[in-house]
Amino acid sequence: MSVAAFADSASEDLNVSYRRAYDGWAADPLRFWAGRAKGIDWFEAPRRIFEPDAGPYGRWFPDAVCNTCHNALDRHVAAGRGTRVALIHDSPVTGSKQHFTYARLLSEVKAFAAVLKRFGVGKGDRVVIYMPMVPEAAVAMLACARIGAVHSVVFGGFAARELAHRIDDVAPKLLLTASCGIEPARVVPYKPLADKAVEMSRHPPQATIVLQRPELQADLMPGRDHDWRQLQAEAQMAGGDVLCTPLLATDPLYVLYTSGTTGRPKGIVRDNGGHMVAITYALEAVYGVRPGETFFAASDLGWVVGHSFIVYGPLIAGGTGILYEGKPTGTPDAGAFWRLIAEHGAVSAFTAPSAVRAIRREDPDGILPACYDLSRFRALFMSGEHSDTATVGWARKALRKPVLDQWWQTEIGWPIAANPLGLGPLDIPVGRPGVAVPGHRLEVLDAEGKPVPANETGTIALKLPLAPGALPTLWNADERFRQTYLAEFPGYYSTSDAGRMDENGVVSVLGRTDDVINVSGHRLSTGEMEDVLSAHRSVAECAVVGARDELKGEVPVGLVVVKPGENAPLEEIAAGLVSAIREAVGPVAAFRRVVFVERLPKTRSGKILRGSIRRILDGEAFDVPATIEDPAALEEIALAFR
Ligand code: COA
Ligand code: AMP
Repeated sequence: MSVAAFADSASEDLNVSYRRAYDGWAADPLRFWAGRAKGIDWFEAPRRIFEPDAGPYGRWFPDAVCNTCHNALDRHVAAGRGTRVALIHDSPVTGSKQHFTYARLLSEVKAFAAVLKRFGVGKGDRVVIYMPMVPEAAVAMLACARIGAVHSVVFGGFAARELAHRIDDVAPKLLLTASCGIEPARVVPYKPLADKAVEMSRHPPQATIVLQRPELQADLMPGRDHDWRQLQAEAQMAGGDVLCTPLLATDPLYVLYTSGTTGRPKGIVRDNGGHMVAITYALEAVYGVRPGETFFAASDLGWVVGHSFIVYGPLIAGGTGILYEGKPTGTPDAGAFWRLIAEHGAVSAFTAPSAVRAIRREDPDGILPACYDLSRFRALFMSGEHSDTATVGWARKALRKPVLDQWWQTEIGWPIAANPLGLGPLDIPVGRPGVAVPGHRLEVLDAEGKPVPANETGTIALKLPLAPGALPTLWNADERFRQTYLAEFPGYYSTSDAGRMDENGVVSVLGRTDDVINVSGHRLSTGEMEDVLSAHRSVAECAVVGARDELKGEVPVGLVVVKPGENAPLEEIAAGLVSAIREAVGPVAAFRRVVFVERLPKTRSGKILRGSIRRILDGEAFDVPATIEDPAALEEIALAFR
């Protein structure tokens, strides 16, 4: 495989360095990963690197014994680096900043691990964390890792029903939450949402531990709810030590739910060993971060990026992670990210294109980056959704730094295709994520599973086995894992992303082949929203599709057919539907638009023509498929949107 041609000899060297790395991995993946595994402290080092017969497609480091918390904290303290800053909590919404050294973080984590143990939580037990961006959430994640409990963090912008789905699937012993989250315009009470989710769930946790924040105190129900700070203080006073539990590398570290095509989110399982090896490699090879340096991932702990690159990646590498409780704009202005990077000395950063679009809208001339000392900053990485030319162009001009795209998925846990700064940045056209990162073998396949020629469109697939760190399976659902990801193309994992690869191996990602949409870099299921709309008493039929949006990339739009004889005013029905989605899925869905139609365009076999609807919404030309039941239905939609 080769990469894009370069204009000068310097970049040719970089090209060579990427090629050497990729070819080195491809020639002997087991040797490559065995080498990378040396950077991890194992209680028992791997003798076997990969076991092809375990799990649905094999398991990495099957006989190794380790602990992720040990690697993230204890080993750095033991090596005399306890005074180094491990985590910075920067919270303009509360006006506070806290620096946690490795020694302090370890002490907090040990105390909270003792709290978990007091509630009978041990190896293999699950703990759901539904929290705002506070350091206690990271402490809880690490405390779970320490005792071998499996954490499942749920993003705070999700509503009670979403939380209840996850509680039901993962069946936690404990729920950890806070009294509130703080959005720029309002304080969001989390506890009532957590309570509602517990009421709705079939497997309610034994207890809830609540972090009381000064902005809003939650009511605690005696016997069921417990005060976080009180428990933590008691554990700290008791001063007992909680040692790291030895775990198999293949034991789960966490389960993180992500949207699929159905209303049931998928529990992505992440193991301990492969995950540590993979994310430390990614931090170095993709983000160009050296051990001990600071990385700023502008994400939330509820997303995979938050797991990999706010907490685990920087800590395992002995660096500093930044937990930012704020927004790209308005807290206080569109210079927030640049202030964070300068003040905390981040050498590179990650964000979603939506965030940069929001910043650009406020600072169109790119004045604010120049107000900060970005001399140590090397590059801005963007992912989660398509990076458009205007946004990348603005950021490059304003920052005068490389702005690099990359493509990954919750399932894989680290970048699949990127412009890998650590291996030498390549000359990749804007709007394309880049080349396969060593560890991943990409192919673009046609419907029959055959590779398509260069520059032709198909489904991007990853040749099995998946890289270390990628999901070994879905939580308690091997068969669903096989059906969802492996059945379509035998021998491959289907990414459900359509795309192309050019003759130089540069990948373009064109969008999902399923009904998942991407709102501000947040992955949401339209199927799930349809379930909510369909349950409304006035709705006969509906379809939710993603329409292009200038800021958020995509936003959901609901097409609704009302029941015959329904007399309620349409505005009233629309308002009811908007609040139903907000109540059931959460505000993060940004569902605000309902369009009433007489009927939905369908094929003769009853399949809704979502692709055509989407093209109409986006003002693009659309074909009338030969299989359409009634061609007039599409024309009606075009009229409704005019
Ligand atoms: N807890 C509770 N509510 C939350 C929340 C949280 N953690 N996060 C978001 N919300 C709410 C917001 O308050 C807002 O509610 P509203 O409808 O009452 O205003 C709604 O969810 C949508 O929020 P948001 O997605 O932040 O949209 P916005 O219009 O306020 O801001 C952007 C737009 C582009 C600035 C913002 O979406 C953004 O920062 N996007 C980038 C996200 C990102 O980093 N993604 C990468 C993940 S890897
Ligand atoms: P998530 O699992 O939430 O990270 O979402 C993954 C999905 O986001 C992918 O399957 C893609 O559809 C989309 N995505 C992520 N990164 C990119 C990118 N760089 N370009 C285009 N789409 C992307």
